[in-house]
Amino acid sequence: MTRAALVEAKSLTRVFDVSKPWLSRLIEREPKAYLKAVTNVSFSVGRRETVALVGESGSGKSTVARMTVGLLTPTAGSVTIDGIDMWAPAGASERQKLRRRLQMIFQDPFASLNPRWRVDRIVADPIKAFGLAKDGAQIRHRVGELLTLVGLDPADGAKYPHEFSGGQRQRICIARALSSNPEFLVCDEPTSALDVSVQAQILNLMRDLQDRLGLSYLFISHNLAVVRHMATRIGVMYLGRIVEMAPAAELFAAPRHPYTRLLLDALPDLGMTGRPRRPIEGEIPNPIAPPPGCAFHPRCPWAFEPCRVDVPALMTKDGNGRAAACHAVVAGRI
Ligand SMILES: Nc1ncnc2c1ncn2[C@@H]1O[C@H](COP(=O)(O)OP(=O)(O)OP(=O)(O)O)[C@@H](O)[C@H]1O
Ligand code: SF4
Ligand SMILES: [Mg+2]
Repeated sequence: MTRAALVEAKSLTRVFDVSKPWLSRLIEREPKAYLKAVTNVSFSVGRRETVALVGESGSGKSTVARMTVGLLTPTAGSVTIDGIDMWAPAGASERQKLRRRLQMIFQDPFASLNPRWRVDRIVADPIKAFGLAKDGAQIRHRVGELLTLVGLDPADGAKYPHEFSGGQRQRICIARALSSNPEFLVCDEPTSALDVSVQAQILNLMRDLQDRLGLSYLFISHNLAVVRHMATRIGVMYLGRIVEMAPAAELFAAPRHPYTRLLLDALPDLGMTGRPRRPIEGEIPNPIAPPPGCAFHPRCPWAFEPCRVDVPALMTKDGNGRAAACHAVVAGRI
């Protein structure tokens, strides 16, 4: 019998009101404007699993991340963590209890660290907030342990964030995230701001921590090459929707959705097979007025009649955990 997933996101949708102020709308005779940042996004994350979401800028990745950790209310849909509904109407106290069990790591480690606090205070903060130590000595011991765990020196606790490099600052963020003993980490572009060599070190650290602590990750990146070595399963997002979901190896070996195919063609040819690198043509459409039917149709070389009219559903064709939202795939045209 398979165990239930740790995290279940069902039909998450988030609409932002991006209307101009009331008076400007009145003068310019403009209606209210809404932006659908995320539409019907569902995924699950098993224990010790890494599920990645990839997509271009504006595809809704961070919005999904913030709804998943409880920082942003969904317009519709639900998130359950270990069976507890994060957004249940009467669930404020349950939500508070869940907070300890999930943490988030952001792209810019400098912006997410208080520059006026020493590192030991930064890392100790969640330990105090969640009442996880009985006295100062225990807190100091735990902070030293956490700094060592992420590859820093316990003596680094006496320094300020600006005294560290970008990679070391991300290690501090990871130590702080781990200080509440979470089970689930949402990592939103955790290495995108770092040099390539440092990126690899941080990714290795995250994998190592996952093994040692039994963590589950939702890992967000615009870079397919980065998620390839991190993720068990990958969801590809386009304009607020998941357009393909597949085990990582299968997604790379045999992508189904045209957008995934084009994303892969745009990757550098690391295997030096002589494959040309082709950037994806066309612009990402305006999310306030997305194209009708499949939002990818203006850029899709495989588009045919239904694509301009009907939104393709995310469908599993052969029951093997793979799903794609594409009329051409369903029709067997690709
Ligand atoms: N608070 C907000 N108010 C209005 N629109 C928003 C808000 N937050 C996000 N959006 C819009 O929602 C869409 C999705 O944004 P989101 O930040 O989730 O994308 P992303 O995939 O994380 O992009 P990036 O790779 O640039 O981080 C974008 O069009 C963005 O402009
Ligand atoms: S539904 Fe049509 S337009 Fe959309 S990706 Fe598939 S073939 Fe292309
Ligand atoms: Mg983002």
